[in-house]
Amino acid sequence: MDAIDVIRAKRDGATLTPEQIDWAVDAYTRGVIAEEQMSALAMAILLNGMTRPEVARWTDAMIRSGERMDWSALERPTTDKHSTGGVGDKITLPLAPAVAACGAAVPQLSGRGLGHTGGTLDKLESIPGWRASLSAGEMLDVLRRTGAVVCAAGGGLAPADRKLYALRDVTGTVESIPLIASSIMSKKIAEGTGALVLDVKVGSGAFMKTVENARELAETMVAIGTDNGLRTVALLTAMDRPLGNAVGNAVEVAESVEVLAGGGPADVVELTVTLAREMLAAAGVAGKDPADALKDGSAMDVWRRMISAQGGDPDAPLPAAAETHTVTAPSSGTLSKLDAYGVGAAAWRLGAGRARKEDPVSSGAGVICHAKPGETVTEGQPLLTLHADDASRFARALESLEGAYEIADTAALQPLIIDRIA
Ligand code: URA
Repeated sequence: MDAIDVIRAKRDGATLTPEQIDWAVDAYTRGVIAEEQMSALAMAILLNGMTRPEVARWTDAMIRSGERMDWSALERPTTDKHSTGGVGDKITLPLAPAVAACGAAVPQLSGRGLGHTGGTLDKLESIPGWRASLSAGEMLDVLRRTGAVVCAAGGGLAPADRKLYALRDVTGTVESIPLIASSIMSKKIAEGTGALVLDVKVGSGAFMKTVENARELAETMVAIGTDNGLRTVALLTAMDRPLGNAVGNAVEVAESVEVLAGGGPADVVELTVTLAREMLAAAGVAGKDPADALKDGSAMDVWRRMISAQGGDPDAPLPAAAETHTVTAPSSGTLSKLDAYGVGAAAWRLGAGRARKEDPVSSGAGVICHAKPGETVTEGQPLLTLHADDASRFARALESLEGAYEIADTAALQPLIIDRIA
């Protein structure tokens, strides 16, 4: 087989055969297909799309490029959640302990942030001592002891996706539904979870800007999961505004601990409980309600054990940024808009995110939102507090916030949970 024939076929709108797909993914992983050839193929896929059978085969080939984890030694059923990424999305932090407290096991392989969206590992790494890298044996040990583990994926898991995602990131080929669906699902299927709930974000702060695109991505991923024997459900959820009040790393850990203590912002609690109920139902675990686990301290107990098991000190003070700058409301009225992308980009420019994969992040940097869309504000009241290690970062962050908030007489809001796809 020849790379140029496969590229030409997709460029000219043909459906790739299973043999072509298996060969292309395997040859790319082994370095037989050059980076420039795979970048041309990825662009042809982005422009011409893939049929459902093509996406299924491409996902399967990426799973077969590496190892598949196995949790059959555990006594509990496994269940996991994947979010397509957003601003202020700290849901895994209260969610994994809440689900474990209700009797399922959560083996979550998670990622780091790039651009304006935050990464769960970056947030957890702001806890002094906490370690993201675990061997498969250590993961099993933490799961047995606590019921939940959140850590980085090892290099042996879907190596084809690892290579291809890095290439897509620098060739303008991330925004392809077949490539996003196969990338996410190959990792989740290789992770070995028995059930999966997808949180597909919609809005300015998400990959998918429209409900139509988000629905297509969700349906594609649910079909891939179901075909692979993974009980898969997707929720479409709002990402036109940040989730919760805190956007950053340590500030999001602090907000998650409030949720685990039975408090926290209403939207974070609602999404945590909704996703947790879906995860438990998909895993066939009944009898306990995650809303109770957040109230009665059992989710907090799991959190403390889970953080300690990965070297973290759940009682240690979280890092704080040295400098703050407050943005006040320019008039009185209803906050009608707080744009997720604008706030995420501001947090990123404050140091909470990275521009390149190898950049460090600031644990203390971020944005605290003092009002949520739909709430009444008074002229001069604090609207946002920016946190940075270095005051010179405020000017660029403030540029990102230009036009990101509006005050009007009323606000028309997207519901938090927009749709459910099973
Ligand atoms: N997240 C992934 O893991 N892959 C994509 O392609 C996009 C988001």
